[in-house]
Amino acid sequence: MTDAFFAYRDGVLHAESVSLSTLAARFGTPLYVYSKAALTQAYGAYAKACEGRNAAVHYAAKANSNLAVLGVFAKLGAGFDIVSAGELARVIAAGGDPRRVVFSGVGKHADEMRFALEKDVFCFNVESRPELARLNDVAGSMGRRARVSLRVNPDVDAKTHPYISTGLRGNKFGVAYEEALAAYREASQLPHLEVVGIDCHIGSQITEVSPYLDALDKVLDLVERLDAENIKIHHIDVGGGLGITYTDETPPDITAFATQLLDHVARRGHGHRQVLFEPGRSLVGNAGVLLTQVEFLKPGETKNFAIVDAAMNDLARPAMYEAYHGIVPVTQRDSGDSTVYDVVGPVCESGDWLGRDRALNVEAGDLLAIHSAGAYGFTMSSNYNTRPRAAEVMVDGDVAHLVRERETVESLFAGERLLPTNG
Ligand code: LLP
Repeated sequence: MTDAFFAYRDGVLHAESVSLSTLAARFGTPLYVYSKAALTQAYGAYAKACEGRNAAVHYAAKANSNLAVLGVFAKLGAGFDIVSAGELARVIAAGGDPRRVVFSGVGKHADEMRFALEKDVFCFNVESRPELARLNDVAGSMGRRARVSLRVNPDVDAKTHPYISTGLRGNKFGVAYEEALAAYREASQLPHLEVVGIDCHIGSQITEVSPYLDALDKVLDLVERLDAENIKIHHIDVGGGLGITYTDETPPDITAFATQLLDHVARRGHGHRQVLFEPGRSLVGNAGVLLTQVEFLKPGETKNFAIVDAAMNDLARPAMYEAYHGIVPVTQRDSGDSTVYDVVGPVCESGDWLGRDRALNVEAGDLLAIHSAGAYGFTMSSNYNTRPRAAEVMVDGDVAHLVRERETVESLFAGERLLPTNG
């Protein structure tokens, strides 16, 4: 592979006009690099399916909440799915419209509800009956009515990693399907709530359409029962979760997937209701790489290690989910053979690995690109081992913009205090 920045568009790797070596020299490593063209392309694939339909895309900010990323989607006309007041503040700072925000999450604090009501968010995706009561109280105290949608747990198997499967009975998410009708009746009686929608999200990195259709059928059955009770559902939020190709997964094409869901809603006679999509990963995952440098090669009796300057604190997915990310040398060596390495970071944990058993022809000092790192990469990063978080760059045509500075060590403990007895 030549020294270009590659990002997936239309499921195909495209070279950007900026070289990763130049970026590493300019901004240092570890470095997250995003492609504006890839973000735009992925959004366009959803937008195409929504064209002429009563449907909208609400980008799930948790996948990558860098202001520049949110700004690109805001400009393209996206709404947003958020899970905290912090994400709402980011959306607003990036020029997003709070009235096009859905607020998800199982544990919304009263202050977060208040902030979201002040900003007049489109809808609260409520996940439990106690949350209904709290939201009703908060809205009442402000003399407002909160628009709500209940997140229903349809009890379908999304066939994905258990940590990112959310639509099964036994997950902490959503209102149990059997309880949903009663919860809706309760919501419709609460004076400071206005029932407007229904929501479900069955998991993440889903590579088949069938679990979505199963969930949708159960949701639509419920909508029909609610209709019969005169509880009007204006929008159906089908959640996010569409998977991407990390290695050999074959998820459906975005436009085909979204079209299939919209067609299904229409076929069942619900085409008049608005459909919301909440994609995260499928919009940003393959629009980013994590650039890292090999520090040392450490041959061993049973394993060889390539120790790099990125670690589990920069990209937690391998350590957390045993997730696979492609790891590719930025410049191909002309001579020498490949050796099989575990690619690991400097953090003091055996779980600190980024890739296992990778055949690489590398030397200390070489740059590696860790692929598909645009989603749940930077947003899940931490300061473990007092490691400053990486810088982030967005490539727009042949210009690279620094969209987040590398943290400084001093900033990491700026809010800490010695005890007075320490002098
Ligand atoms: N909507 C809701 C309510 C969600 O909980 C999520 C993700 C999304 C939308 C967006 O899902 P996506 O389209 O990105 O799959 N950290 C894990 C993924 C956790 C997903 C959490 N919820 C990972 O790195 O794989």
